[in-house]
Amino acid sequence: MRRLLRLAALTLGTAAAWMLLLPRAPLRQPLAFSHARHAGMACAVCHRGALEQARAGIPEAAVCLKCHATAPRAAAAVKWDEAGRAQPIAWLRVSHLPDHVMFSHRRHVGLARLECTSCHAEVGASAVPPPRPPMRLDMNACLACHKREGANQDCAGCHR
Ligand code: HEC
Ligand code: HEC
Ligand code: HEC
Ligand code: HEC
Ligand code: HEC
Repeated sequence: MRRLLRLAALTLGTAAAWMLLLPRAPLRQPLAFSHARHAGMACAVCHRGALEQARAGIPEAAVCLKCHATAPRAAAAVKWDEAGRAQPIAWLRVSHLPDHVMFSHRRHVGLARLECTSCHAEVGASAVPPPRPPMRLDMNACLACHKREGANQDCAGCHR
């Protein structure tokens, strides 16, 4: 009996550990957008808020249609009509901070002149949409850079 209990506890423990260790399910974007194919363009053409606003923003279909009034090459494979033209593209956001944290792209990109890669690694150059954030943007990551750069480390600087 005791052995059985021990086994049950072990199984439960392992299951709990797995749930903690398991990464969040990878995201699947509605269209296989390739940053690499648009490498000649400034990031802010599509992410309009990156320099001046809190949110960088995800581009709406109108931005794409400036160049893609007709479906782009290899479009059959990417369901352009269905996802890209017929309706606003339902892009999913990969990076997410909880509501109690304040973050502004303007502050970091417009003022502090940090590169996008310092927080998003190579997303801007990749050939496929990232299934999950390539870098952790948790409190420790924020604080590590704030310490390094001599930026504000007060709780109230980041938390409402
Ligand atoms: C400034 C012009 C421009 C804008 C704006 C633009 N694209 Fe493109 N896009 C291109 C060019 C040029 C190519 C062709 C590259 C090639 O043929 O390899 C392309 C290729 C593509 C392809 C095909 C990629 C492949 O694997 O062959 C897709 C899908 C695509 N774009 C989606 C989008 C989406 C979605 C948007 C809006 C978020 C967008 N594009 C905005 C110029 C643009
Ligand atoms: C032609 C438009 C276009 C250009 C130019 C562009 N992006 Fe994007 N970007 C998108 C679209 C569409 C998505 C959403 C789909 C995806 O994740 O690939 C996206 C997603 C992202 C994301 C993920 C956002 C999230 O939720 O975490 C990052 C980071 C990003 N882009 C960075 C960049 C950087 C850096 C550059 C410049 C080097 C750049 N992008 C240039 C269209 C563009
Ligand atoms: C100091 C770190 C940092 C830098 C530098 C940075 N980002 Fe972000 N980015 C973030 C964080 C954190 C989020 C999530 C914000 C949230 O959930 O409110 C984010 C979210 C995004 C998103 C998702 C949509 C949105 O507006 O939330 C895009 C797109 C994006 N960033 C693009 C860029 C581009 C392009 C650059 C460079 C011009 C850039 N970022 C520079 C940290 C950064
Ligand atoms: C790669 C370095 C870096 C990372 C990562 C980073 N920051 Fe910053 N942050 C800075 C710098 C540098 C400043 C000072 C900008 C200025 O000149 O105002 C700053 C300023 C700020 C400010 C303004 C603080 C004030 O009151 O002066 C807030 C809020 C902030 N960051 C939040 C965050 C959050 C939240 C994260 C994590 C999601 C984060 N930062 C990640 C470098 C970074
Ligand atoms: C540079 C920005 C920054 C500063 C400064 C900062 N935090 Fe945070 N904090 C974050 C971010 C981003 C998150 C959300 C991501 C995470 O949970 O790591 C967070 C999350 C938290 C959480 C919630 C954890 C959870 O489980 O939801 C608490 C509590 C917290 N911070 C307390 C503090 C305290 C106390 C201080 C001051 C000693 C502080 N923070 C300073 C950025 C910051």
